[in-house]
Amino acid sequence: MGNPKDFDDSPERFRDENPDARFGGASEVLFEQAMAQTRMAICLCDPNKPDLPIVFANKAFRNLTGYDEAEIVGKNCRFLQGPETDPEPVRKMRQAIENEDVVVVELLNYRRDGSSFWNALHLGPIYDSEGKLKYFFGSQWDVSDVRAARAEEHYAREMARELSHRMKNMFSVISGIVNVTGRMRGIESEAQEINDRVQALGRAYETTLDDASAGRIEIGQAIRAILSPYDVGESHLRLLGNGIRVPFAAVSSIGLVLHELAANATKHGAWTRDDGLVEVDWQEKGEDEQRVVEVTWREKFGPKVTIPADAKGGSGNEIIDRLLRFSNGCIDREWHEDGLVAVARVPIWKAS
Ligand SMILES: Cc1cc2nc3c(=O)[nH]c(=O)nc-3n(C[C@H](O)[C@H](O)[C@H](O)COP(=O)(O)O)c2cc1C
Repeated sequence: MGNPKDFDDSPERFRDENPDARFGGASEVLFEQAMAQTRMAICLCDPNKPDLPIVFANKAFRNLTGYDEAEIVGKNCRFLQGPETDPEPVRKMRQAIENEDVVVVELLNYRRDGSSFWNALHLGPIYDSEGKLKYFFGSQWDVSDVRAARAEEHYAREMARELSHRMKNMFSVISGIVNVTGRMRGIESEAQEINDRVQALGRAYETTLDDASAGRIEIGQAIRAILSPYDVGESHLRLLGNGIRVPFAAVSSIGLVLHELAANATKHGAWTRDDGLVEVDWQEKGEDEQRVVEVTWREKFGPKVTIPADAKGGSGNEIIDRLLRFSNGCIDREWHEDGLVAVARVPIWKAS
């Protein structure tokens, strides 16, 4: 039910003052109610009077602009413009009015108290049943918030692009340093191993940064990028998880873990077999402080597994463990008949 205090009697007044501008019967009532109750600001201007004055402005228009009806009726709408209003949309409106066209523009307008707002304005002609131009209608919509959000989004996208560019540069510089150092010290193969890890980390960010939002990235994309160089084809790699977003830090750990697991699968595990398969799944688990992303690496149809003497053996595994410890994560490994099943958990809870 409407609040009687909010009752807008301006349509009634308009009808009394413009007795020939009437709908018949029920449509008149509906029209008046719509005009009065809509939250969209609406005004009508009369092109048959000098300087196209406003003849009707609903309550939403008055609320938006802060002017009383008496201050509005009889004036041309340009009184809403001010020092920062761009002349281009004003020119467009002038032209549309001359051509009796419909036009939509976005321009800066000013309220009675001097504050400004972005007005998405839709205006167009209204003809009577004989085709004679009777009015122009205008509907105004305050899109200041929309514009601010659009600007913020644009800025965030620019920042992500710039960051992505810098990260790529940084990773190629690190790669270069590792290569040169390796060559100078005669430890090319160690250098190569380190470089592979550096590049895995780089890839985890490369394809995802442009799409980063609020410091979180879609983990599926990062996982795809990390595993792409192994190029094992769909019959050997099945990605089962779906779109969840995780903080940057979690992606680094997961990226490096997957890189080590993939390198191991290529050397000793499922990917040494023609029909070897790796399934990777990822899910969010737990709540609040306990929230983790859980990544499951499941090798199938690999060579018969002999559990390493030191179950954590191999520098790759050690690196994984250390890394995960560093980010408060953990990994469980089980050596099944036909392959390793590893479940890594990385906390993703972040107080906001
Ligand atoms: C129905 C109608 C609604 C209008 N609403 C607005 C408005 O909300 N804000 C605005 O800046 N101009 C509005 N205008 C445009 C101005 O009234 C005027 O037409 C425009 O400034 C171009 O003319 P000018 O160059 O003579 O000022 C509206 C025009 C019409 C016909």
